[in-house]
Amino acid sequence: MTQPELPVVSPLDRGQGRSALSPKRPSEDTAGLADVFPYYAGFGYDWARALLKSLDVADTAVVLDPWNGSGTTTLAAQHEGFRAVGIDRNPVANIVARLRADAYLTDQKMTVPSAVQVGDSEFLDDPLCAWFTPGSTKRIREWADHLSSLPTGESGLPYVALFRSIRALTSTFEGSNPTWVKRAKSNEDLVTVSAADFDSMLMEQQEFIASRAIPSSDTPTPPVNIATALSDALPVANDCVDVVLTSPPYLTRIDYAVAYTRELAVLGYDISKDRTLRSALMGTTLIRKNTDPNLLIGETARSLIEDVTSHSSKASSGYYRKQVVQYLSDLSAGLDEVTRVTKDGASLHLVVQDSYYKDIPVKLADICVEECAMRGWDLESLDPYVVKRTLTSVNRAARKYKKADVSETVITLRKA
Ligand SMILES: C[S@@+](CC[C@H](N)C(=O)[O-])C[C@H]1O[C@@H](n2cnc3c(N)ncnc32)[C@H](O)[C@@H]1O
Repeated sequence: MTQPELPVVSPLDRGQGRSALSPKRPSEDTAGLADVFPYYAGFGYDWARALLKSLDVADTAVVLDPWNGSGTTTLAAQHEGFRAVGIDRNPVANIVARLRADAYLTDQKMTVPSAVQVGDSEFLDDPLCAWFTPGSTKRIREWADHLSSLPTGESGLPYVALFRSIRALTSTFEGSNPTWVKRAKSNEDLVTVSAADFDSMLMEQQEFIASRAIPSSDTPTPPVNIATALSDALPVANDCVDVVLTSPPYLTRIDYAVAYTRELAVLGYDISKDRTLRSALMGTTLIRKNTDPNLLIGETARSLIEDVTSHSSKASSGYYRKQVVQYLSDLSAGLDEVTRVTKDGASLHLVVQDSYYKDIPVKLADICVEECAMRGWDLESLDPYVVKRTLTSVNRAARKYKKADVSETVITLRKA
């Protein structure tokens, strides 16, 4: 397939040369409440807002992010006055996205739950016992059970305060790869925290989040819809979306369920016992049994599968081939859905990162452009930004294969 010709002007430019704003989030980002919870976001809030502002669309436009994560797109769309729909399969991400969308509601107050009168051993089976002693787990679970009984509009702030507290207490379980969280190997590694200390930590975290709330004079009015669903089965009607702004998971072996395993444990998920959620996420390192063998993909994706399959390193033709096929299958199913729900003339803005499999370049931007072209999307612009620190560079084993800097690319397409 021939590569579509690249236009010179990007949609951010409005004829004034290329945008100086990189989509990459700064490491100390506070814009758009990005600091309330550390989420692996593909782009920053300021960039997303500038992009939406530059678009020539009606005030009634609907903006969709089918891989919405912590809700940068939905928040930016809301603040630019557009209706927004954010879909993500990770319930942790949706709690954060919902809180960011509701952040002007500073009256989200926490009430302290009463202690449950049962013995500590009742908590031995709790997924939080991967990091906490049963006695400490008991108080955390009391809080989590209490929050699960609150209406969604009231539970966001305390849930995120709970997530922040758990993270702070278990930071020693984070490795050099920020998306791979370890579990305690023995009872000595388990964290102990008294109920009183935990309660006051939670209150502090709550105050921090409340202090970051957006002043109510800036209260955005358009509705934001955030739903827990899969990108290959979007709960969205046909032909109703005007703008899609998104960053799908990359082919870099980030396992979102493992990255948020502690927060999922707060919500009652034990991903070490039930693999349903983890294996449903795009980019997962688990292999499903049901990937469609008749995958409809373009030349670039197909040649990546061939290159990985014929690589001399261990498991390339087995496990790694399957993982790449599974990823491409999820990506193409997601793009099918994006095509179904968008209006003719809609714009699609994708932020993706290239990477390497061993020494094989994974040209994700080229793959996306080609997959979109096969689905009737015309390329309007392709803006690459060099990424210095990637998961390839933090992974020691992968370093020997790293050949060049990888780029993150903003792809702009229009539905013909
Ligand atoms: C790069 S992140 C998006 C980050 C987002 N831009 C933000 O502001 O946080 C990709 C997201 O895709 C989600 N995801 C992975 N597989 C999915 C699937 N099959 N359906 C829906 N969401 C999925 C992950 O949970 C993750 O939140």
